[in-house]
Amino acid sequence: MGVSRVFASLGILLLVGCSLAAGGSGRNVWLSDLDISKTQQGWGDPHKNLSVDGNPLKIAGQTFERGLGTHADSLLYVELNGGSSRFHAMVGVDDEAGARGSIEFRVLADGKQVYKSGLIRSDDPAKQVDIDVTGVQVLVLAVDSGDDMNYDHADWADAYFTVTGTAPKTVDAPKEEAVILTPKPSPKPRINGARVFGVRPGSPVLYTIAASGRRPLWFNAENLPAVLKIDRETGRITGKFTKPGEYKITLVATNDLGEAKRELRLVVGDTIALTPPMGWNSWNCWGCAVDEQKIREAAEAMAKSGLINHGWQYINIDDCWMVRRGSDDATVGGPTRDEAGRIRTNKRFPDMKALTDCVHSLGLKIGTYISPGPWTCAGYEGSWQHEQADAQQFAAWGFDYLKYDWCGYGSIVPEPDLKQMQEPYRFMRMCLDRVDRDIVFSLCQYGMGDVWKWGAEVGGNCWRTTGDITDSWGSMSGIGFRQAELAPYASPGHWNDPDMLVVGLVGWGPNLRESRLTPNEQYTHISLWCLLSSPLLIGCDLTRLDEFTTNLLTNDEVLEVNQDPLGEQARCVAKDGPREVWARRMEDGSTAVGLFNRDEVPQTVTAKWSDLPVTGKRRVRDLWRQKDLGTFEGTFGAEIPRHGVVLVRLFPAE
Ligand code: GLA
Repeated sequence: MGVSRVFASLGILLLVGCSLAAGGSGRNVWLSDLDISKTQQGWGDPHKNLSVDGNPLKIAGQTFERGLGTHADSLLYVELNGGSSRFHAMVGVDDEAGARGSIEFRVLADGKQVYKSGLIRSDDPAKQVDIDVTGVQVLVLAVDSGDDMNYDHADWADAYFTVTGTAPKTVDAPKEEAVILTPKPSPKPRINGARVFGVRPGSPVLYTIAASGRRPLWFNAENLPAVLKIDRETGRITGKFTKPGEYKITLVATNDLGEAKRELRLVVGDTIALTPPMGWNSWNCWGCAVDEQKIREAAEAMAKSGLINHGWQYINIDDCWMVRRGSDDATVGGPTRDEAGRIRTNKRFPDMKALTDCVHSLGLKIGTYISPGPWTCAGYEGSWQHEQADAQQFAAWGFDYLKYDWCGYGSIVPEPDLKQMQEPYRFMRMCLDRVDRDIVFSLCQYGMGDVWKWGAEVGGNCWRTTGDITDSWGSMSGIGFRQAELAPYASPGHWNDPDMLVVGLVGWGPNLRESRLTPNEQYTHISLWCLLSSPLLIGCDLTRLDEFTTNLLTNDEVLEVNQDPLGEQARCVAKDGPREVWARRMEDGSTAVGLFNRDEVPQTVTAKWSDLPVTGKRRVRDLWRQKDLGTFEGTFGAEIPRHGVVLVRLFPAE
């Protein structure tokens, strides 16, 4: 080999060496050597030099020594401060995801998109990112989920910055002030909550008129059927029908400032939950650290904080109230059932009947949870082979809501076909039909087998459409904005359920933290869930509600979108990159419209009448601000902050 050839091959070696370790002029700094804990992601935790599941980084058979393992939807802010010249990475779906991952990688430089990978699926070879970042202050590394949010294990492999000046540093996403947009509620009476209520003949009626306004308030109900009675002080309507029928009742609430009236349509028939259930559930807050006292406190707080006056009514116990199989912890262990096969509570729930009585005495309803399998997700006793006995017990205890969570049933049928997926739900439905109590039936199986297509047929009132939500933008927005295709499957009594709310103090117990969603993300969360006609189940500590969270949960004009009797689910009517417009028809002929900005920088989002569709002049009302914005024709646009929303309602202009 001649000398020149030696130098030439050395040159190649040097070049290769440079791109791997030195990157032209400047030194290389590995992304994985920065503080990657600042990564926000839809599921799991970020890992240094390992995949999200903790395996060596591997894309289509190629292993990488260094990089960041994350999960869509993911965001990482890196401050470059003009000190780097290039960013390099090899990106793809980690092999551990099997065949089901689909993701897109994006890089934003000072708010502008400078790289987009296009959709990458499992087994696609790693794509190279090699971009000039000279002069860039802030770089954002984003991963969006593709077909669905499952198995989106994303690797920024071999990722490094070529640094010529200041070293790069990962930072938190921009902080925002928690601005309360809504004016204080009026002291005058206003009737809120559901305008239509379903009850089955033979089941007790419990309807509490939700009304805001200075206390004392006095209630009345005109045209109340003879079988019902109203408590004038509490606004509670009780009684029992024996036959199907439909009634129009005028609800009245009075205080010394005036009177409010509103019509309630009472439908006695087969279908309950004619509007999406609104309440609280213990899981996102307490996880398995739940006990009777916490449930009582939540119920008392729902009444005392005034949430009850805005239509909130269910207090739902999630997992971990039963006996834990094989546990030697005396508070949760012990025999799981009595001699007659009746399910036992664990010692943290010493008297279930007393607890349900307490919740009912506040004018609220109460829910429970179990699995069709031998055990629940957290390993507590399930209903397997005790379904009828459990349904009877739930009714005897006085429960009004049942979340039926697949989990342990996976041990009975590990790879279920459609019929097997449906079977446990059909069976519990049959059991619930035999008890004389209205129990909202909530299917929880994370969307398997496109449950939205058959959830109503097997007798569900709502069905979870996704895996578990967490308090990150990636999780919440990844779930929420992915519900568009499901709109045709929602109707009164049958709701798609994109999981519970993650605002306020959450933590899956016992230690709670403030939701990691920014204030704008929280406005987006509530607006989207209302547009989607989703069940609204608050997942935070109700005894410690701050003003911002209270405001999020008590804006009656926003909640009215969720509770609209038409029961339509909003559709995504326009999408332009991160700008999305979602709209739904309301019973009164108006249209609720959400203008969303999923981008990292503010964007103007415009709703076109032709997309909604509406015609002519419209009065546009901002629902968070409870303020008319004027009359518009053809379009309405607004500047929307990062991850934020403007939620409006369009009324025909007089
Ligand atoms: C599953 C459900 C959650 C919660 C837990 C309880 O993960 O999806 O909502 O009920 O089980 O263990």
